Amino acid sequence: MINLEKIRQDFPLLQKPINGRKTVYFDNACMSLKPLSVIKAINEYYSDYPACAGRSSHRLGAIVTQKVAEARKKLAEFIGAKKTEEIIFTRNTTEGINLVAHSLKLKSGDIILGTDKEHNSNLIPWQILTKKIGVIYKALPSKSDNTFDLEKFESMMSGKIKLVAMGQTSNLDGTSLPAKEIIKIAHQHGALVLLDAAQTAPHKKINVVDLAVDFLAFSGHKMLGPTGTGVLYGKKSLLENLEPFLTGGETVEYSTYDDHKLLPIPEKFEAGLQDYAGIIGLGVATDYLRSIGYEKIAEHEYKLNKYITEEILKIPKLKIIGPADPRLRSGIVSFYIEGIDSHQIAILLDETANIMIRSGQHCVHSWFNAKGIKTSARASLYFYNTLEEAEIFVKSLNKVMKIL
Ligand code: ALA
Repeated sequence: MINLEKIRQDFPLLQKPINGRKTVYFDNACMSLKPLSVIKAINEYYSDYPACAGRSSHRLGAIVTQKVAEARKKLAEFIGAKKTEEIIFTRNTTEGINLVAHSLKLKSGDIILGTDKEHNSNLIPWQILTKKIGVIYKALPSKSDNTFDLEKFESMMSGKIKLVAMGQTSNLDGTSLPAKEIIKIAHQHGALVLLDAAQTAPHKKINVVDLAVDFLAFSGHKMLGPTGTGVLYGKKSLLENLEPFLTGGETVEYSTYDDHKLLPIPEKFEAGLQDYAGIIGLGVATDYLRSIGYEKIAEHEYKLNKYITEEILKIPKLKIIGPADPRLRSGIVSFYIEGIDSHQIAILLDETANIMIRSGQHCVHSWFNAKGIKTSARASLYFYNTLEEAEIFVKSLNKVMKIL
């Protein structure tokens, strides 16, 4: 069991009442809270060794170089990568996906296969390539309960599909796809696989070697890490053959007026001065997650999600997006009520009870447009949330429904 009392002491926001009332933070799929250890690591960088990694040979530079190398090792261990150079630091998942999109040397007629509920970050880069070079983008329809259709996927696979690019866990409904099976089938057809693991990394253990995934991108800010941090994992043999789409300082071994020689991976992909404080903080975030353990995180999220699901389904006309079973929806409860504006629900929950949820189309406009659903309200949970907060949420939602 999670020791909530102890854990919650680590998150400053949970100790700070707003207008004399506790804050119920249920917007974790957008941004997680940060533990004191991460905040301390960021502060230490700025106060004790605010220097450059890699380029300055003075003692402060050496500390930063070492701390960044340690963070890279932690991130490699975090996702089971065997080689630290397979970890490319990025600003976020979006940047990781763009890096792959612009470096893979796709050509006209190549097919990219996603699902019908991809985040814009894993849709727009492919649409841009469609316009620019004529790649073809296809969206695999989900089953009627919004879960992944493995049979349909297998029937759609062909040698023309060059890349399967899918969200491992959906930010829309919290469902995860059967990544290992998908990768196996894709490889049998000669396709590469890129997973958008932004919503997976905070909640589930990832092992890139076991998955045999080719590329995997995730963000730091949803998994206790600083904003503006992320990772792109790629198999060494693939990364070595990609051309970076951002180049400049720290990416080259040497240059002349006419030419240059790129550094090996990972440096060739990390152009310009990096967010050293963020990278070091992200490493510390992985320590924190490890100290809690994914089994405990999943069990706790399920307990809260089950309670909320059962209670809110009693509200007339309320529909949950995705499968009814909360165990299949990670920490997400995304719902809409016919005839009611989800933004109004979110604003009233905040104004009347300090409850923070997200409302809107959650960067999955394509799915909402296809279904003809305007928006949804989304409560997204994490391991530091409590059953008491879930009760406050349910009670307040019922009160809000009486006002609307
Ligand atoms: N993708 C993030 C979310 O779902 C921003 O809120």
